[in-house]
Parts: sequence; structure tokens; C-alpha cells
Amino acid sequence: MAPWWKHGIIYQLYPRSFQDSTGDGVGDLPGIEQRLDYLAWLGVDAAWISPMYPSPMADFGYDVADYTDVDPRFGTLADAESLIAAAHERGLRVILDYVVNHTSSEHPWFLASRSSRANPKRDWYFWKDPAPGGGPPTNWVDRFGGNSAWAWDEATEQYYLHTYLPEQPDLNWGHPGVQEAMLDVLRFWMDRGVDGFRVDVAYRAKVAPQWRDNPPNPDWHEGRDPYKRLLETYTKNLPDAHVVGRMLRDVVDEYRDRVLIGEVTLPPERLVAFYGEHDDEYHLPFNFNLIHCDWTAADVQDQVDRYEAALQSKRLNEGAWPNYVLGNHDVHRLASRIGPEQARVAQMLLLTLRGTPTLYYADELGMPNVKIPPDRVVDPWEKNAPGLGLGRDPARTPMRWTTGPAAGFTVPEATPWLPIGPAEAPTVEEQRASDDSMLALVRALIQLRRSSNALHAGAYRAFHSPDGVFAYERTEKEETLLVLLNMTGRSQLVPLPPHAAQGTMVLSTRPDRAREQVAYRVALHPNEGLILRV
Ligand code: GLC
Repeated sequence: MAPWWKHGIIYQLYPRSFQDSTGDGVGDLPGIEQRLDYLAWLGVDAAWISPMYPSPMADFGYDVADYTDVDPRFGTLADAESLIAAAHERGLRVILDYVVNHTSSEHPWFLASRSSRANPKRDWYFWKDPAPGGGPPTNWVDRFGGNSAWAWDEATEQYYLHTYLPEQPDLNWGHPGVQEAMLDVLRFWMDRGVDGFRVDVAYRAKVAPQWRDNPPNPDWHEGRDPYKRLLETYTKNLPDAHVVGRMLRDVVDEYRDRVLIGEVTLPPERLVAFYGEHDDEYHLPFNFNLIHCDWTAADVQDQVDRYEAALQSKRLNEGAWPNYVLGNHDVHRLASRIGPEQARVAQMLLLTLRGTPTLYYADELGMPNVKIPPDRVVDPWEKNAPGLGLGRDPARTPMRWTTGPAAGFTVPEATPWLPIGPAEAPTVEEQRASDDSMLALVRALIQLRRSSNALHAGAYRAFHSPDGVFAYERTEKEETLLVLLNMTGRSQLVPLPPHAAQGTMVLSTRPDRAREQVAYRVALHPNEGLILRV
């Protein structure tokens, strides 16, 4: 029997925005627990919860001040244990975020480290003298605004490295003390029943960096992300990241049935290195390539086929299992990137490809970006590099449960931490009541995927189709399904492959489409995705 994460579906939720149970306008763990029945109804298998650890919130939880507790805004450790138990009762797994590359500058480890050059924790972080002529030791820039990645510490007269905000100092994974303390964090949570981890910026973990300047990026121009001025030759995707990946996997393998997911933004050919040479790193290095490619049938198919080819490549063991992601808390909402009609096609793609799908909360409603007035912006990236469209607040707004006050997310008197979105934005309540809704479509796709071996376990093969259509078959033993995705706004006539020329429609992205028998060719409406059983 394949492990659960191969046939399962992962649902990412941003704890600040799922459900507020205390009336402070910020979501929390008891709130998530109240909404578990929704996840069970939707039919997903696991909830990945973005960081809920104690944090000064400079980067909304990705600046962790204690890896083995819960921020009071989100509840208590007992609430986390209760949530894990309640999820397991419903057959749902819980995946936590594990911030590997940096801690908060308020973490006791960093406070000790910065207290004096002689402190035993000094080398838990990267401290350096100024460059020979003065100034920072290298030209490296930080991710949120492109300022120097080195912050000067007056008291001890050295610089420390921060790939993200100055409030997020980089951990030195070359230090045995860091290794021991950080690996124990994994054990702490697995002992409490956590089913796996999503490792934040897994490809940035550093063991023994070379302190050399990054070269300029010849493709950079004014108006692009200032951070991209430099290539990342010495700061990202180094052998170090694999050393750390293997350490994490060793510990995860001490326990049964846990999953290790890595956040790795790389093209398919390089991404697959993160499975490890011997299936000894990440079970699922996140594949974000469908987020970043152009939304055309040719480009999407190219990404899928390149990924499939990279997975089959001989250097890999058989353990390399694919996965796909279409949205998360760092990018614009799917429905805003590709439009509401293609968002339906995209969900059909995600839930019919070979590989574990990860859904981002509220994408199942077709939630668009929410407009954030300037005085409500909170994301440090938008604040440091304003107006370039980099801000992440629009995709992190509260879940809209009902048409009532505060959309059922919080109490009406509270000011939600981000705006709840306009009245015309979708809600669970309305969409649950309608057979035509995005939610109904996503749930039907999930149910189909769960019940079909061809979809959750079968082989993938693309077949020839007209320009603008991505068509593939999924097969397992006797079962074959064809998926035809019209990624254009015009009608298309798709010939069926000779060995699968007759079939029955199973599901369309268009609610008005009658179920028909088809033979030899199928007419697709504009922006229609269709699944056939042949
Ligand atoms: C990852 C997270 C992002 C965070 C960053 C720093 O990319 O997804 O939200 O800001 O790492 O931890």
C-alpha cells in the first residue's frame, strides 16, 4: 500500500486567516479545530498549517522565537495537541511549517549569540568582520527589499547574515549545537502526533557557505524585484541544502508514516535533486512551476512533460513521487492570475495530474486577490519594495465562511488583521448551496480523484490535441480517464486517440454541460475542462 501522502491531497491554511475563535480579528488554532468538519467534508487528507509558533511577527510567523510552543495569539500547546487529536479523529493529517534557514532575532538562541563574541552560541549564526576596506563582508542582498543581507551589531562590532529581514538571522547548520536543537524540534512535534513538515526555503539552508560576492544579474532592470539585481550563485541551492535535507529525513524516518516536504523554487530538472540520490531527502520537493509558467496549454504541458521526464531520469530511485502546487501565501491568488474561468480549468488540472496536489485555502472558492488599502498593508515585502506588485497581503485575507457579519471569520466588532474582502467575494455558505459553484466543482474533483485509481495512482501520458488544448490520459490497469483542458477562450474540437476513441463524460468544468456519450472527437466550449471515461 502506497504511503498516504502519495494518494492524498494537502490543504494549506494560513492560521491568521482561517477562523478566529477569540474575537481579536486574528485566526487561531481553536478556530481551525472548529472548521475541521469542513476540511473532512471537502475531502482533503492533510492540513498544512503555516507557522503558529511564538513570534514577534515581523514576517507573520516566519520569524520563530520558540519552535516548541504556540504563539498566544494562536492559542496554547494544549490547543495544538487538541487540534492534532481532533484532526486524527476525522482521518485528517496535520503538517507543520518548519522554518529551517533562520530564527527570529528575538529567539533566545540569537539573543545569546549576539550578547558577546565569547558566548557559546555565538557561532549558531553567521557573524563576520567587515570586509577589508570596511562595509559588509559580501555584496549579498536580502529577500525583502534588496538591502544588504548583513546587519551591523554595534555592541559586538560584527555583522550577522539575514537572507530575509534583519529580524530573521540565518542559522548556521554547520554547528553541531544547531543541528541537535533543530532536529529535536522535529522529534518534539512528531512525539505529539504531527504527520509531517513543510520545510521553509529548504534550498537556502547553509552549512559552510563560501563568502564570495554574487555576480550581477544581466537581466535585471529597474521596476523588477530589487533583490533580483544579483544572481544567487553563492546563496541558494548549494550542496549544503542537501546535507541538511538528509539530516531532516533521517529524523523523520525515525517515525512511521511521516512526510517531509521541501519549499524549493527551481525548474523541474534541478528540483528533482531534492529527492536525494537515494530517496534520502524530501519525499515531496514542492513543485511551483505551474505557478510561474505562462498559462497556455503549450507551456503548462511543457512543464508537466519536463517534470515527468526529470522524474524518470535514471539517476533517481523509484521513490521520486511528483507533486503540484497552484497557489500559496507568497503569490497572487490563482483566480486573479489566470481569471475565474481558467481557475476552474486549473483545479481540474491540479486534481487530475499524476502527483500529490496541494490546495491553498479559499482557492476552492475561486477567491480573488483582495484589494488592500495603503493604510492596511502589513506585509514587510510590500513595505520595503512598494508598488512592484510583490506584496502578499492580497492573497492572505480571511476565509469567507458566511454572508453574515465579518463573513463568519470573526466577531462583527473586531477589526480583522487584513480586510475580509468585498461583499461580492465568494463564501462557503453560498457555494455549498449551489451545484454550479467552484466549491462544488473542486469537491467533485476531489471525490473523483479519491475514488479513481487511475487519477491518484495511474500513469500519465499526454496525447496530441489542437493548439490551446492540453490533453492527457491517466491509466491504471483497466481504468482509463482522458482529461481535455481547453485553455483558450474559443471552442475546440479534440480528436480522441485511436485506442480510446469512445467514452462517457464524467465531469466538466461547465455546470451546464449534459453528460453525453462521445466517439472519435469531442467539442469543448471556451475555457472548458472535461474528464472522459473510456
Ligand atoms: C518562505 C515563506 C515565506 C517567508 C519566507 C521567509 O518563502 O513561504 O512566506 O516569508 O520563506 O521565511
